[in-house]
Amino acid sequence: MWKYVRRYLGLAILAAAFMFSEVLMDLLQPEIMSRIVDEGVLGVNHGGTGDLNLIWSLGLRMICLVLIGGLCGSLNNVFVHMSAQNIGNEMRKDVFRNIMTFSFQQMDQFGTGSLVTRVTNDITQVQNFVSLFIRGMIRTSMLMFGSMYFMFRLNTQFGLIVLCAFPFIVGCLVFCLSKANPLFSKLQEQLDRINSIMQEDVSGIRIIKACVREVYEKVRFGKANDDLIKTQLHVLTVFAFMNPVVNALMYVVVTIILLTGSYEVGAGVTTPGVIMAAITYTTQLLNGILGLTMLFQGISRGYASWKRVRELMSVRPQLRDGGFDGNTDIHGSIEFRNVSFAYPGSGKTVLKDISLTIQPGETVAVMGATGCGKSTLVNLIPRFYDVTSGTILVDGRDVRDYNLKALRSKIAIALQKSELFSQTIGENIIWGRADADDTAVERSAEIAQADGFIRKTPDGYQTMVAQGGTSLSGGQKQRVSIARAVIRDSEILIFDDSSSALDLKTEAELFSALKREKPGTTKIIVAQRIATVRHVDRIVVLENGTIAACGSHEALMNASRTYRDIYDSQMGKEEQHD
Ligand SMILES: Nc1ncnc2c1ncn2[C@@H]1O[C@H](COP(=O)(O)OP(=O)(O)OP(=O)(O)O)[C@@H](O)[C@H]1O
Ligand SMILES: [Mg+2]
Repeated sequence: MWKYVRRYLGLAILAAAFMFSEVLMDLLQPEIMSRIVDEGVLGVNHGGTGDLNLIWSLGLRMICLVLIGGLCGSLNNVFVHMSAQNIGNEMRKDVFRNIMTFSFQQMDQFGTGSLVTRVTNDITQVQNFVSLFIRGMIRTSMLMFGSMYFMFRLNTQFGLIVLCAFPFIVGCLVFCLSKANPLFSKLQEQLDRINSIMQEDVSGIRIIKACVREVYEKVRFGKANDDLIKTQLHVLTVFAFMNPVVNALMYVVVTIILLTGSYEVGAGVTTPGVIMAAITYTTQLLNGILGLTMLFQGISRGYASWKRVRELMSVRPQLRDGGFDGNTDIHGSIEFRNVSFAYPGSGKTVLKDISLTIQPGETVAVMGATGCGKSTLVNLIPRFYDVTSGTILVDGRDVRDYNLKALRSKIAIALQKSELFSQTIGENIIWGRADADDTAVERSAEIAQADGFIRKTPDGYQTMVAQGGTSLSGGQKQRVSIARAVIRDSEILIFDDSSSALDLKTEAELFSALKREKPGTTKIIVAQRIATVRHVDRIVVLENGTIAACGSHEALMNASRTYRDIYDSQMGKEEQHD
C-alpha cells in the first residue's frame, strides 16, 4: 500500500495539514464561547457588569475561526480526493496489467466475476479507506485528544470524569468491531457471486429467454442478493446497537459534569461559561469517538478489500518465460513428443502420450468426437497450458524455451468460440496485427470469405460490432475471427473448429483461398466435417486422448474404421456437396 501512498504523499500531507487546521478551529471555539458567557454576558471578573465590546470582539474572532475552518475543510476535501482517486487509479491499472499476464489456468482459478469485483468494488473500497484514513485519523484523534486537553485546561475534575468513561467506550468499540470484522470478507465474496451471476445472465440472456428460464435465473440472482443483504444488515445491526450505547455513556458523563459543575458554581470554584465549554468539548469528544467507529469500520472493510486486491497483485505469471527470441532456421514445424496432459486440478488425463510431427507448410486436420481433446491439443502449441509430460517443439525448439511473445507471434489462432470486440469490423480484423494497413485488412477478409458480406453492410468495414458480436451471424463472426488470424501473417495458422458455421461452399472457397494465398504457412484445422478435411495433407483422428489414426483421406478410408464410420455417418451431406 505504501508503494501507492508514497507517490501521492505530498497531496496526502497537504490534506492532513488542512484537516488539522479545520479541527483546531473547532477546538478553539468553546473556550472563546465560555469567555463570551463569563466575561461578556455575566461579567464574572467585573462585579457582574457585562462587556458588550468584548462580546463583539470575541464574536468576530469566532466568525473568523469558523471561516478559516470552513476553508481548510474544503481544501482538505479537495486534496483527500485527489490523493485517494489517484491511488485507486494507479492500483486499478496495476491490477489490470497483472490480470493480462494471467495464464488460462489462473483465469479459471479466480473466475471473471471475482476479477471484476476486485478491479471495481474492492479498489473503490480501498480508495474510500485511504480517504477515510487521511481524514479520519487526524480528525478523530485531534477531536478526542484535543477536547481532552482543553477539558483538563478548563477544569481538572471535568477532565477526570471524561477519562473514567473512556475504557467503557473503547470496550464497546472493540466488541462491535470483533463481531463485524469477519463479515466484511464475507460481504465481498457475496458481491463476487452477484457479479458472476449477473455476467452469466446478461451474456446468456438469449438462451435464458429461449429456454424460458427467466424465473429460475431471477430466483438464483435474487438469492445471491438476499444473502448479501443479510450480511449487510448483520453489519449494520452490530453498529446500530453500538452508537446509542456510546451516546448514552457520553450523556451520563454530561449529567455528571452538570451535577458536579452546579456544586462548583455554587462554591465559586468554577463559572457557568466553563460548564458550557465542558459540555461542548464532551460533545466534540463524542463526535471523535463516533468518528473512530466509522474509521475502524472503514478500515476493516478497506483492509478486507485490500487483501483481495493484493492477492491479485501478488499473482506471478505462472508460465515461466524462456529467453529464446524465436530466431530459427526452420519456419512452421511442430512436433509433439510423447505429450500427455491433464487440466490442473482435474485428475483426468485428456491427452495420452501423443507423438506427431507436422512439417512446415503442411496442412493437418484434427478430427474426433466432441470432448476428445482437439481444442486441448491445439491450445498446447501457443502454451495456453503447459504439458503435463513430454515436449512440444515449434521450429525445433521446446515451446517452454521461447519468450512467450516470440512464440505466440509465430502462431495465429482462431478460437472455437469467436470473441469479437465492440469496435468496427475493420478494427476487429486489424486488431490481429496493429501495423497492418487497409489493403491487408481487405485481403485477409477476402481470404476469410468475409469481404463480400462486409461490403454489403451499409457502413462496410466501418460497421460497428455489438458487444459480444451479437449483431453478426454465427458464420459472419467466424469469418471475421478467421480474417483476424489470417492478417497476422504468421508461420502457423490454427483454426479450432472455426469454420463450422459456414456452408460447405463458402468453407471450400475459404480453404482454397488459404492454399493459394498462404502456401508456406503450416495449417492445423480442427473440424468435425469430412468435407472440411478431405483435401488436407494429413488427417489426425483423436480417440480417448490418443491418436487412433493418421494419414490422408484415402489412406484413412482404407485403414481407419473410426474415420470410415465418421465418413459413413456424413455421407448424405458429402454426396450433395460433391
Ligand atoms: N479449462 C478446463 N478445465 C478442466 N477441464 C477442461 C477444460 N477445458 C476442457 N476440459 C476437459 O477436457 C476434455 C477435452 O476438452 P476439449 O475442449 O479439448 O474437447 P474438444 O475435442 O475440443 O471438444 P469439442 O469438439 O466439443 O470442441 C473435456 O473432457 C473437457 O471436459
Ligand atoms: Mg473444441
